Amino acid sequence: MQRVLVTGGAGFIGANFVDHLVVHTDLQVTVLDALTYAGHREAVDGFPSDRVAFVHGDITDAEVVDREVAEADAVVHFAAESHNDNSLHDPRPFLDTNVIGTYTLIEAARRHGTRFHHVSTDEVYGDLELDDPARFTEQTPYNPSSPYSSTKAASDLLVRAWVRSFGLQATLSNCSNNYGPWQHIEKFIPRQITNLLDGRRPRLYGEGKNVRDWIHVDDHNSAVLAVLQRGRIGETYLIGADGERSNKQVVEQLLTTMGRPRDDYDLVADRPGHDLRYAIDATKLRTELGWTPRYDFDSGLAATVEWYRRHEDWWRPVKEATEARYAKSGQ
Ligand code: NAD
Ligand code: DAU
Repeated sequence: MQRVLVTGGAGFIGANFVDHLVVHTDLQVTVLDALTYAGHREAVDGFPSDRVAFVHGDITDAEVVDREVAEADAVVHFAAESHNDNSLHDPRPFLDTNVIGTYTLIEAARRHGTRFHHVSTDEVYGDLELDDPARFTEQTPYNPSSPYSSTKAASDLLVRAWVRSFGLQATLSNCSNNYGPWQHIEKFIPRQITNLLDGRRPRLYGEGKNVRDWIHVDDHNSAVLAVLQRGRIGETYLIGADGERSNKQVVEQLLTTMGRPRDDYDLVADRPGHDLRYAIDATKLRTELGWTPRYDFDSGLAATVEWYRRHEDWWRPVKEATEARYAKSGQ
C-alpha cells in the first residue's frame, strides 16, 4: 500500500487522521473533500506538499470519485454530514452524502479492486438505558434513532452488502464520541469550551443526564490505521476507550478546569429523540489487533481546552452564527 485516498480529510477526524498518517507512516495521502461548512482548508494546508495532496470535490460526483479511487491503493472514508442536530432540521444532505456518497465510493472501489475502510459510528446501534450493564458489541442489532444515525446505518449496510455480493475488499469501524483539535464548535465539547472562553454559560440539553463514551481523536485514528493495516476483510471493529461520562459531568469538569463554579451552566431544550447512553465494548479490537488507547480523558480534555484557547482565530468567525442557529431551537 503506497497511496491512500482520505475522504473528508479536511474535517475534524479526517484532518487528524492525515496528521497521524504523515507522522506514523510513509504513505502518500490524497484528501478528497467538498469543504462544506464543516471542512477547513487550513486543517490540511500545514502538511508537507510531497506527502499530502488536496482535491476539492464531492463524493457524490462519480467522475471525480472514479478518477481519485483509480489512483489510490486504499480509501479511508470519513466524509459525512456528521451532526445530529442538523439532521433534525434538514435531513436531505445526510441522505446525499452519507448514503449516495458512500454508494458512489464503493462502486468505484469495486471497479478498481481498491481496499476500502468505512468509518462509522456507534449510533447505528441506538441507545442503552443508564443502568444497563450491557455495552455495544459487533453483535448488537442495528437500531438507529436519528436521521444522521439512520443514514450512517444505511451506509454500513451498503458496504457489508458490497463485500458479500461483489467481494469488495472492505473493513468497517464504529466509534464512540470523539474530542480533540479541529472539532466544529457546533459539537458538545467545543461548544461549551468556546462558550466559557467567551464568558457565556455552558448549555446542557434536558437534564444533562445523557451519557457518551468519550475517546480522544488520536486514539480513534490509531485504531482506524490498525484496522486498515491488519483488520480482516468483511469485519467490523468497534472502537472505544472506556470513557463513559454524563454530559453534566463533562460540563462540571470543564467549569472546574476553566476556573468557574461547578453549577455555572444552563439547562436548555432537549434534543428530540435524544439517545440516552452509548457505551462500547472494544474487546475485539484490543485482542485481535492489539490496540490500546493512549489518552486519559482528564489530560486530553485539558489539552483540548488549551487548543481552543490558542486557536480563537479559527473558531471566532463562526461562533455567532452557530449560537444564533441553536437559539432558534431554544438551545
Ligand atoms: P466533520 O463534520 O467534522 O467533517 C466531515 C468532513 O466531510 C468535512 O471536511 C466536510 O467538508 C466533508 N464532506 C461532507 N460532505 C462531503 C461530500 N459530499 N463530499 C466530500 N466531502 C464532504 O465530521 P467528523 O466528526 O470528522 O466525522 C468524520 C467521520 O467519522 C464521519 O463519517 C462520522 O460519521 C464518523 N464518526 C464521527 C464521530 C465523532 O465523534 N465526531 C464518532 C464516530 C464516527
Ligand atoms: O457517538 C458518535 C457520534 O458522536 C458521532 O457519530 C457524531 O458524528 C458526533 O457528532 C457525536 O454525536 P452526538 O450527538 O453524541 O454528539 P454532540 O456533540 O452533538 O452531543 C453530545 C451530547 O451532548 C449529546 O448527548 C447532546 C448533548 N449536547 C450537545 C450540545 C451541542 C448538550 O447537552 N448541549 C449542547 O450544546
